[in-house]
Amino acid sequence: MNKAIPEVTLNDGTTLPVTGLGTYGLWGNAGANSVSSGINAGYRLIDTAYNYENEGAVGEGIKRSGISRDDLWITSKLPGRYHEYDKAMVAIQESLYRSKLDYFDLYVIHWPLPNQDKYVEAWQALIDAQKWGLVRSIGVSNFLPEHLERIIKETGVTPSLNQVELHPFFNQEEQRRAHAEHHIQTQSWSPIARAADILSNDIVSKIAESHNKTIPQVVLRWQYQIGSVSIPRSTSPTRQRENLDIFDFELSETEMTAIAGLSHPDGRLFGMDPATHEEF
Ligand SMILES: NC(=O)c1ccc[n+]([C@@H]2O[C@H](COP(=O)([O-])OP(=O)(O)OC[C@H]3O[C@@H](n4cnc5c(N)ncnc54)[C@H](OP(=O)(O)O)[C@@H]3O)[C@@H](O)[C@H]2O)c1
Repeated sequence: MNKAIPEVTLNDGTTLPVTGLGTYGLWGNAGANSVSSGINAGYRLIDTAYNYENEGAVGEGIKRSGISRDDLWITSKLPGRYHEYDKAMVAIQESLYRSKLDYFDLYVIHWPLPNQDKYVEAWQALIDAQKWGLVRSIGVSNFLPEHLERIIKETGVTPSLNQVELHPFFNQEEQRRAHAEHHIQTQSWSPIARAADILSNDIVSKIAESHNKTIPQVVLRWQYQIGSVSIPRSTSPTRQRENLDIFDFELSETEMTAIAGLSHPDGRLFGMDPATHEEF
């Protein structure tokens, strides 16, 4: 049985549930049904992106769920091709029209694309979108510490959150330290490492057995205890509920350390290094 999902308070005073539903690849009618079943399973935070081409399915899933929009937190992301200020402003409005929402709870820059050198301009657009009331809270995704330093220095505005690849194979210890220095909330993408190799990991398996939990539940509990907001994706109502059922047990310090020990420098799932990765 799920307990209520705790919330964190961001540096701008807004709040966010500590876990939400990822939606990459959830499209069309099936996607809308997955979003709706996720909300009915108890998720209140839904993570989408302009480039997932499913903001429409997310909006439809919200409608089908019957839950009031005011009780939900919806996040979307600005794609690389719209980093220029005017284009960013239009893209945010277009995102809202697609999802049939009046505002996003959180909007983030999807990737910094440092070689394009336009992410400061994009950040300025998000700052103004927040002033216009299109977005409640503004953040970034895949920003390395040097990208964070630069936008803070050049605009005086600190992002509320940074969504980064984070799972037991790549636990982002250094990046999380940089977030803590600036009071930036960490959010984990691919939080259960796409449920592949991790499902046959002996160390996590033993921990899961000892708590009578599944491996994804242990990993999501680990995410919660390191203080990161996770956004696991599942199309299955059963697994959606399973992934929320993480608030009735606690990992010991020894167990946390054992999971931290699985991380390695080349542990990124797809080798997507924000210093060089470009997607538009
Ligand atoms: N900012 C970025 O650049 C970025 C990049 C990647 C992802 N994201 C966001 O992060 C979200 C989550 O990441 P992700 O989708 O890459 O990976 P993920 O959430 O780590 O894993 C999703 C996979 O795990 C399976 N799964 C989920 N729960 C399970 C369970 N309890 N037992 C067994 N298998 C389970 C799902 O299959 P079933 O559907 O069959 O359950 C799916 O194949 C995305 O959906 C997206 O919203 C952001």
